[in-house]
Amino acid sequence: MQHFVRTQDFPREDLDRILFHARNIQVMVETGKKKKLKRRLKGKTVSIVFWEASTRTSKSFIAAGNLLGATVDFTADAGITSSAVKGETFEHTIRMLAGYGPDVLVIRHKEQGRLAEAARIVDHFRYKTCIVNAGDGPGQHPTQALLDLYTIKQELGRIGHIRIMMGGDLLNGRTVRSLAYLLSKYRDVEIVFAAPDELQISSDILNHLTETGVKWSQIGENFREHLPRMHAVYWTRLQMERITDASLRERLQVVQKEKFCIDIKELALMRPDSILMHPLPINSEVREISAAAEQDYRCVMIRQAENGLWVRAALLDILVNGWPNY
Ligand code: NCD
Repeated sequence: MQHFVRTQDFPREDLDRILFHARNIQVMVETGKKKKLKRRLKGKTVSIVFWEASTRTSKSFIAAGNLLGATVDFTADAGITSSAVKGETFEHTIRMLAGYGPDVLVIRHKEQGRLAEAARIVDHFRYKTCIVNAGDGPGQHPTQALLDLYTIKQELGRIGHIRIMMGGDLLNGRTVRSLAYLLSKYRDVEIVFAAPDELQISSDILNHLTETGVKWSQIGENFREHLPRMHAVYWTRLQMERITDASLRERLQVVQKEKFCIDIKELALMRPDSILMHPLPINSEVREISAAAEQDYRCVMIRQAENGLWVRAALLDILVNGWPNY
């Protein structure tokens, strides 16, 4: 595996191996065997360059690199601090970033498709650097999807044989797109997409799900009727930074606030053994998951975010050292 850019490119066996390795890393840390892990990426470099805002993804990649003993550097706000401001082409920027020799280059970009382009540039000029997509605009967020899968596995004990509702801004959110691709590799998955019409999931995802035999449906504000059937509910915020029309943005914000939020009333409809997930951040004005709902034992979003450390460490290790011999 050289790059980790699009979730649809990864076979099910590879995903399972990454998740298994992630679990082992978690257990090693929790049983005090950190020292052994520190040698995994000794002498290796992980370079993290972000063109977009981030708390969890950047911090957990930094923590994952540190956990494995790598040298880690991080550039935030690359749109302001890199030579992109001076009008440099994306190709030159990538050739420079790869040219100083990081083993892994983790990039978050504002524009969809930029990470695939970065991987092509790296391959074309024969750099050995592995490219990891930490989010490309409304495109994908593959490592978030990995941690979402890991969380489903840990919390529900399985990934296949589930019914999951994904709600919120499905048009502009990238996490749902990546997760839908990954879930399509597992057996007997049903996905219900709950969103206002203007924010429904795009047809590329629906076509893929149809082709891979995943049962799906799209619903609107009557989503509550379907909650009692769900094993997992995955909620997302309105991606305000991607909606340029200010009046549309305000209107959709009101629609989400009034009709597409999860509060204790909604939780009361959910199964006692189900989980409520969110990639975070929650918008503090809209509160698409209410403060009260957050207190419920089924709301796993903080653990979900923490799982990012294990899957990102596993991914970095596998990219640099190859598949572990289990
Ligand atoms: C997500 C993202 O960046 O797409 N955040 C994250 O990495 N956990 C979700 C979001 O910003 O809404």
